[in-house]
Amino acid sequence: METLMDRIANRKAVVGIIGMGYVGLPLAQTFNLAGFRVVGFDIDPAKVKALMAGRSYIKHIPASTVVKMRRGDRFVATTDFRRLRQVDSIVICVPTPLTKEREPDMSYIVGTAESIAPNLRRGQLVVLESTTYPGTTREVVIPILAKSGLAAGKDYLLAFSPEREDPGNPNFTTARIPKVVGGLDKASLRAACALYGAAVERVVPVSTCEVAEATKVTENIYRCVNIALVNELKMIYDRMGIDVWEVLEAAGTKPFGFGKKENKTFFTPGPGLGGHCIPIDPFYLTWKAREFGCTTRFIELAGEINTGMPDYVIQRLMFALNDRGKAIKGARVCVLGIAYKPDVDDMRESPSVTLIEKLQALGAKVTYNDPYIPRTPRQREHDLRMVSRKLTPRFLAAQDAVLISTNHSDYDYAWIVRHSRLVVDARNACGKVKAGRSKIVKA
Ligand SMILES: NC(=O)c1ccc[n+]([C@@H]2O[C@H](COP(=O)([O-])OP(=O)(O)OC[C@H]3O[C@@H](n4cnc5c(N)ncnc54)[C@H](O)[C@@H]3O)[C@@H](O)[C@H]2O)c1
Repeated sequence: METLMDRIANRKAVVGIIGMGYVGLPLAQTFNLAGFRVVGFDIDPAKVKALMAGRSYIKHIPASTVVKMRRGDRFVATTDFRRLRQVDSIVICVPTPLTKEREPDMSYIVGTAESIAPNLRRGQLVVLESTTYPGTTREVVIPILAKSGLAAGKDYLLAFSPEREDPGNPNFTTARIPKVVGGLDKASLRAACALYGAAVERVVPVSTCEVAEATKVTENIYRCVNIALVNELKMIYDRMGIDVWEVLEAAGTKPFGFGKKENKTFFTPGPGLGGHCIPIDPFYLTWKAREFGCTTRFIELAGEINTGMPDYVIQRLMFALNDRGKAIKGARVCVLGIAYKPDVDDMRESPSVTLIEKLQALGAKVTYNDPYIPRTPRQREHDLRMVSRKLTPRFLAAQDAVLISTNHSDYDYAWIVRHSRLVVDARNACGKVKAGRSKIVKA
């Protein structure tokens, strides 16, 4: 134990990070900047190859960052899990999606723990960062790591520290986001706090792994429920002829007791929920709560409202086309923004995908544009096989409707409205556009 603490203090500890994705790669950079040697593990050889060649596959992490990390071999990436023996701490950042039945898909965590077990050695610190239900570290990770013959808390240290990455947010890089840490025991907590404390500005120790696990799902449930609330208000106020965005802007001027844009507690309506976190993580708790005979009513209701939003947006689009004497069947519709949120290149769980599939099912001729996603990647449950269309005045004029699903800040909305016949705006992206307002329909 003291050896590990010393090695952390004098930066001799080597940090192994499993999963070189949106979370693992910035974390690798953070430890690297703090003076640690980092080994990045991934099962995807293409990612490993890119990193070793100094290339990045994440929009907000430039290749120059990877090149800098690689200098002096302070960072290597590998698919060889035997190299886990060479590191002092192992941080797990693998995906935690839902299965088709909307239950926690633990296969990535299980697979990772299985590849750690044969390589685990005495004195190592293992930290799980993947978002998951309370109890995972103790109930899923420990039994698999026990196959190594080593005991958690005795032979190796174990902690949970939720990842809180906000990709693309320049104000909060990994090092600036406080890190909540829960240890299996005092020694594990101490070691994990020392490790993160060496790389991030603030560490928040909590009493158990379960508290740390619950902290992360609570944060995302809070967002999910509040987004559902403003989405519901949007539909109600629309019936009343009231503009929900104007209402929220006005409510946001209250200096206390209402969410603030600066800290992202100001929620705005949209075409549904997207991303790998907010539409998914709350249901990890729902699943676990059943074991305790509890139903998570707020989560279920929020899920129902949020997943119904694409249908609402399509209904608004259909009415708008109808007003112009046009049926949705055969209509040319270009969806703007296929990423799940503005200014990122990540389209996991994006409501734009649902919108496209539903519009196609209705017989619309659908295209899309996204400056950050030139072609749609194959996803777990979708494969659109589409290519981003170039926005030109001629292309826009040829569309029966342009549907703004994700409000990237690079778009020139006044220009889009000028050249389009009809703009259905699910994000109030055209809120400040003055000319051509009769062509804009909020959805
Ligand atoms: N992306 C975010 O902004 C964000 C924010 C908060 C929480 N999280 C959570 O962090 C975790 C990771 O998310 P992400 O966005 O980084 O996912 P990701 O898909 O971007 O990256 C995961 C990486 O893990 C690799 N991987 C999968 N199985 C593996 C295995 N058995 N061994 C080694 N590597 C494996 C994949 O190839 C991929 O490169 C998830 O639990 C997610 O919910 C993500």
